Amino acid sequence: EHVEWSAEETGKGRFEHYMLKEIYAQPEALRGTLSGRIDDGTVTLESFPEGTFEDVDQVHLVACGTSYHAALCAERQLVRAGIPASTTRASEYFDLQTVDERTLVVAVTQSGETADTLSALRRAAAAGGRTLAVTNVVGSTVSREADDVLYIRAGPEIGVAATKTFTSQVATLAMLTHRIAQGAERGTPREDAAAFFRELARLPDRIDELLAATAAETVSRQHIGRQSYFFIGRDFEYSVALEGALKFKEITYEHAEGFASGELKHGPLALVTEDATLFALLTGARGDETRKNAEEAKTRGATVVAVAPEGMEVGEVADEILRVPDTHPDLAGLLANVQLQLISYHTAYGLGREIDKPRNLAKSVTVE
Ligand code: G6P
Repeated sequence: EHVEWSAEETGKGRFEHYMLKEIYAQPEALRGTLSGRIDDGTVTLESFPEGTFEDVDQVHLVACGTSYHAALCAERQLVRAGIPASTTRASEYFDLQTVDERTLVVAVTQSGETADTLSALRRAAAAGGRTLAVTNVVGSTVSREADDVLYIRAGPEIGVAATKTFTSQVATLAMLTHRIAQGAERGTPREDAAAFFRELARLPDRIDELLAATAAETVSRQHIGRQSYFFIGRDFEYSVALEGALKFKEITYEHAEGFASGELKHGPLALVTEDATLFALLTGARGDETRKNAEEAKTRGATVVAVAPEGMEVGEVADEILRVPDTHPDLAGLLANVQLQLISYHTAYGLGREIDKPRNLAKSVTVE
């Protein structure tokens, strides 16, 4: 199978960079991802009929870069649904002693061509695991080699820094993990599934709202030229903190690190000075705890930018606030991530970086 992207889909249109175009294309991409898969709170995945996941005992997720961060979100959802799950960077996936035919190995890769991820998938198959690819590209190597494939349907992504595909990956994996939890003998699907998936179906509209009102450009201007940029979060927001920092270093070339909020005091705090900006992700079920950790950094002189839900009383900890529309707490991190994508974009723009083709990086890396 081969799909041609149309010129309309691949041009930059009114945007100066593909990255910005792709950030703004997220509502549309996500609608494509969800289309026909969620109906009034229930999930159907075309390629996986009843019984597909009955004999899944554990799930291994393997991925690189941004896809790895999306996989981390899925791991949490699986574990909460009673399914043992772990996420490994594809290049580090070599201890396969527990892999058998009841192990579902999920390779998450936008391009479907990342050499590290393909190798991990091949090792999994050789060890007797059952393989499943979650990818954006129809006909990609991973889609041909895996036992099963699930497409994220985000449309083509040209910018080297992944944006809309992260959002679509997380959404696809949320649907997949729910189907696994429903199907596997040991799985217990989330109790609030109907409410969660109804909110997921509305998420494209929430992203539209966010994009129409974002203050990210103004905020990013205040922080150009700092020595370091830190991103902290807990729970799903921890994955978003890692993703925010990765995006930031990829396209701004500035020093950026993502930390689990609670880990800040166990070392990283030594790096925090008056010359640092800390992005604190206050969305999600554990946002209040992160706010307390942000105070630890604020006390050491860091400037704090809070990413917080509409209604949250943030208080004095934040020098600036980026707001995200209200949604299900387990989805709010995706909205926070959009604000961070914009922060990275506008900072890189302010620094005159080559946003769509950052130095030393490639869209898909076909060597190990
Ligand atoms: C490269 C890109 C990253 C990307 C990673 C995984 O390193 O620069 O942006 O996240 O590959 O790509 P994949 O296509 O496997 O998701």
